[in-house]
Amino acid sequence: MSQPAHGVRSLLDTVELAAIAHRLGREIKRDYPDGVVLVALLKGSICFLADLVRELPGPCELDFLGLSSYGDGRTRVRVVKDLDLEVAGRDVIVVLDIVDTGLTLDYVLRLIALRGARSTAACALLDRQSRRLLPVEVRYVGQVIRDEHVVGYGLDFDERYRNLPGLEVAEEVDLRAEPSAMFERLWRR
Ligand code: IMP
Ligand code: MG
Repeated sequence: MSQPAHGVRSLLDTVELAAIAHRLGREIKRDYPDGVVLVALLKGSICFLADLVRELPGPCELDFLGLSSYGDGRTRVRVVKDLDLEVAGRDVIVVLDIVDTGLTLDYVLRLIALRGARSTAACALLDRQSRRLLPVEVRYVGQVIRDEHVVGYGLDFDERYRNLPGLEVAEEVDLRAEPSAMFERLWRR
């Protein structure tokens, strides 16, 4: 297999990711002693959600929302998998992999508010604040990151690399040139 000449860099390893889930789980438990509904956005949040819920030693219910972006610059969002739970009157936390422009989170918070939730908040593993287009509040943040493309631990590039155990920074231009080229390199760490 051909190897790209550039490197890839670890952003957060499994120990650091576990520490983030532990910290945020405790914060959520402290803020919602009577329970909360966690709405996870597919697919990027799956690994984070799995770790987070096991660090949340209190009542919680889980649901999933699938979105797809489309249109000019993919700035429009539509629902491709809707919630199963009724969220009216409930306290809801939206769980995401990363907040980038904020368009996705803004859409989801509005949707859940329209469904009559009693309260809404957001919990994101990563927050790329420098790229924000909409001023969304992210109450629970794993880590603020720079403007770099990350893959692994649920996050993808063109549906690849979600199954890497840790989070890695990878050059978008290199990924685009050869989307699968980094498997060997990333798995060998
Ligand atoms: P936003 O609507 O611009 O905030 O984008 C949020 C969504 O874009 C996230 O839920 C991710 O699915 C995706 N995304 C943004 N940055 C990255 C990245 O660096 N790696 C993988 N997915 C990303
Ligand atoms: Mg993606």
